Amino acid sequence: MNPEQGQVLGYTTSPSSPYYFTFIVNKESKVFEGDFVIVRDGEQLILGQIAKIYRRTFHSLDISLAVEKDFVEYRRSVVVAKVRVLGAIRDSERLESAFPVDFGLPVFKAPGDLIAKVAAGENVILAVQLGKIVGTDISIKLDLKRLLEGNILVAGAPGSGKTYTSALLAIQCARNFIPVVIFDMYAEYSALINKLLHLHKKEITIEVKTFSTFEKRNTELLRIDFTEIGPKFLQSFLGLTEIQAEALDNTLRELRMRGVGSPSFDDIYEILKEKKRFHPVARSTLLRKLERMHEMGLFKFEQSTPISHIIRPGKISIIELDRANFETIEMTISWIFNKIMASKDDNKEGVFLILENAHEFRKIIQKILRAGRKYRVSLCVVSDRIAELYELIGLCSNAFLHRILSRHDMEALERHFPIHPSVLKQLPNLRTGEAYIVGDVVTFPVIIRVG
Ligand SMILES: Nc1ncnc2c1ncn2[C@@H]1O[C@H](COP(=O)(O)OP(=O)(O)OP(=O)(O)O)[C@@H](O)[C@H]1O
Ligand SMILES: [Mg+2]
Repeated sequence: MNPEQGQVLGYTTSPSSPYYFTFIVNKESKVFEGDFVIVRDGEQLILGQIAKIYRRTFHSLDISLAVEKDFVEYRRSVVVAKVRVLGAIRDSERLESAFPVDFGLPVFKAPGDLIAKVAAGENVILAVQLGKIVGTDISIKLDLKRLLEGNILVAGAPGSGKTYTSALLAIQCARNFIPVVIFDMYAEYSALINKLLHLHKKEITIEVKTFSTFEKRNTELLRIDFTEIGPKFLQSFLGLTEIQAEALDNTLRELRMRGVGSPSFDDIYEILKEKKRFHPVARSTLLRKLERMHEMGLFKFEQSTPISHIIRPGKISIIELDRANFETIEMTISWIFNKIMASKDDNKEGVFLILENAHEFRKIIQKILRAGRKYRVSLCVVSDRIAELYELIGLCSNAFLHRILSRHDMEALERHFPIHPSVLKQLPNLRTGEAYIVGDVVTFPVIIRVG
């Protein structure tokens, strides 16, 4: 196939470097910032993206005579496009471009398949399709393995398509036998995933199960034994001092030695009451805090739901937390993560977690984002308030950026992601369901229409 097809958009001119080139836009050509273009320079095909379009006076430009003639007759000034070089292709291999592009060469619109191929990079091990490159009919094949090696940010203004994108990611993982757990704050995933699966009737391998921390129709009750939440988390969650945390830890150990693996509130209460070495004020504070947990229903379950019911290859477990309070949500996330850490060797395929409203749970997600790689956990952080995630954005290696309107969010993205200004400029204009993919799964950011 000859990629240089269709209308000539213009001709290259000065200045040019291995990273940028400019071309004079033909009078009748319609070009926009963000458009992908190609130019052949000798053996190499150079793929670039228009970063800036501006007007310059004609005399200041150095162009070949043939082109010059054309322009002198009609205009005193010309429209010039500055193009960022994304890569050079030679014998269908992508190379870093080392030479400035020559002058006077015709520039064409880049074909979709070339963009998709170069963007996805080489050696895609497990290709998944999440959508088509905007303006083309070409799907980009992303490497799921590479995507799940790090954490993912799915961000965008309310209603821009974050949940839809995350649901598709969940399906792609499950289809490839990677267990998925979704922390669903608005109880919206179950219907959405079933709808999306319905579109692909052939898929019988994916199992979808909905859990809830409360008794709720069409869901299985998620049972959490609070002693499995982990002492460190309990300490910070209950706001315990070192002494209180130690006393609680000793109590639990004592109960374990007595053969009470999953103690009730009364078991703990009895033992703590007897602890004479413990200062009475500190003891009553701790007991008060435990009573609060008791009121929240945290001592209710003596036996947790087996983690193997929740985390299983090919299964999407949706945990509906629409009626849960903040503490219960944090505790549920923490319990799942502790269970994953404990069963590390069983999760050879890794685990994909999706967390909506991530900015509200910074403390707990920081732990997962940092330690996830060790336990083969990839966390998908979904949020419409990127700025509130602060430095946690930097712990995500890839992002699906939907429409973003807030200045603060853009600044936060710019600080933590190597996003080109021309990409940032386009974020407010994305339509619902369109997303920029940025990060190490692509060689350069591309906009896709998710679906
Ligand atoms: N790629 C898509 N293809 C088709 N419809 C889509 C797509 N993305 C989103 N939609 C539709 O647009 C609407 C908003 O999408 P979605 O709920 O995913 O947005 P959101 O960013 O998660 O919103 P919120 O901030 O309210 O959580 C929904 O009705 C959804 O079905
Ligand atoms: Mg949503």
